[in-house]
Amino acid sequence: MANTILVGAQWGDEGKGKIIDVLTEQADIVVRSQGGANAGHTVIVGDQQYILHLVPSGILRPRKQCVIGNGVVVDPFALVEEIRMLEELGVKVDGKLHLSDAAHLVMPYHRLLDACRETRRRGRKIGTTRRGIGPAYADKAARTGLRVMDLIDEERFPAMLKERIRENNAVLKTFGEKPLSYAKVLADCRAAAERLRPLVTNTVVWLNRQIQRGKNVLFEGAQGTFLDIDHGTYPYVTSSNTTAGGACTGSGVAPNRIDRVVGVTKAYTTRVGEGPFPTESEELGDLLHSMGREFGATTGRPRRCGWFDAVLARHAAMINGMDEIAVTNLDGLDTLERLRICVGYRLHGRKLDHVPANLHDLAACEPIYRELPGWRQSTAGARTWKDLPAGARRYLETIAGLMGAKLRIVSVGPARDQTIFLD
Ligand code: GDP
Ligand code: IMO
Ligand code: MG
Repeated sequence: MANTILVGAQWGDEGKGKIIDVLTEQADIVVRSQGGANAGHTVIVGDQQYILHLVPSGILRPRKQCVIGNGVVVDPFALVEEIRMLEELGVKVDGKLHLSDAAHLVMPYHRLLDACRETRRRGRKIGTTRRGIGPAYADKAARTGLRVMDLIDEERFPAMLKERIRENNAVLKTFGEKPLSYAKVLADCRAAAERLRPLVTNTVVWLNRQIQRGKNVLFEGAQGTFLDIDHGTYPYVTSSNTTAGGACTGSGVAPNRIDRVVGVTKAYTTRVGEGPFPTESEELGDLLHSMGREFGATTGRPRRCGWFDAVLARHAAMINGMDEIAVTNLDGLDTLERLRICVGYRLHGRKLDHVPANLHDLAACEPIYRELPGWRQSTAGARTWKDLPAGARRYLETIAGLMGAKLRIVSVGPARDQTIFLD
């Protein structure tokens, strides 16, 4: 399969987990390289639904190896809990999951600070998942972070933690929060370290050796292009590089080892959390929510919904270098009489064919829509391109054409077999 980066083309929740699970069949190793437990990747195998937060979705396939890379921020307690949940469901983790010694930790004070800051922001909330992601990456950049290698260092860790707790308790006090107990956090960390120690390794060296041996690596992006700290709708973004480049820095695999980039996009658009969303449509949201769809996998929040935005998607194809796209949730549009695709914006009376850098400009953009007829029949049972109604094929070809990428996969339901491979 060669080394493949898979990224979300929108604001996350594009169905990356499902596509990763399908593509893992042809891969040897699946790698998470950024984000943390803010991710919620849903995979359905038979009757069982799994929601993965930190562990790569490849864990559900036997004989596949998984890596949590150096660029991920790891909440050790969330990871231990996720491993426990997987083992309870009969999924083998030991011997398959490799945890980077250099990954930064999300500590209890990060979670508390994330929540405190959100509460304080009042009208300007980001709508974070409150998993401590922003404060953990802030510590990494400030060079005050603790890493997995520290957590498993029994001798040095207590003093390092003590210093971090002291400093963060002072900050928490300014928010009116109770101080954290050093003794309690240390005891919890020791217990987590014991469970995680056997998984810890230098994943940079390990991964590169595997690549040298000809193994195929699949990089599982978390979040989506417009949540990228550099390329997203700042400040309504997450705190990592969610775009293709992040997979290299977050894993230690060089760009020239990458063979292809696959973008995953929904057949429409969703966003969970605050921030501009030009094609947002209450009508589409009501329809999808009434079908029991589009509720967040991590927080359960209803996702905001809107029409497919080809201006954003084309921009995503450009900055990620997408060779191919996978379009998911086509079946969500099955009942509509007419469909809209945003092909441009109107900003203060002027036409735009690109995403404006300024957040306020994007918020003021009015979408210019192209209308297409709906197909008004179920696509959920389609297994080949020819099975799809002509209207659906035209819709998909329009999306791919506007994005300038090759349509490779169409997903018509959450199950493994509800997947159409083209070519
Ligand atoms: P991720 O974060 O990108 O992995 O996406 P999520 O798992 O958060 O959200 C995607 C949701 O859509 C999940 O509930 C999936 O089971 C579901 N899903 C994925 N592809 C399809 C599809 O083609 N059709 C339908 N009906 N559901 C899908
Ligand atoms: P997956 O991998 C959708 C959003 C949050 C919020 C913003 C910042 O499942 O696609 P954070 O907790 O990261 O500081 O929140 O980013 N967000 C996601 N939205 N899918 C995700 O992950 C997300 N991870 C974070 O809702 O708007
Ligand atoms: Mg998700």
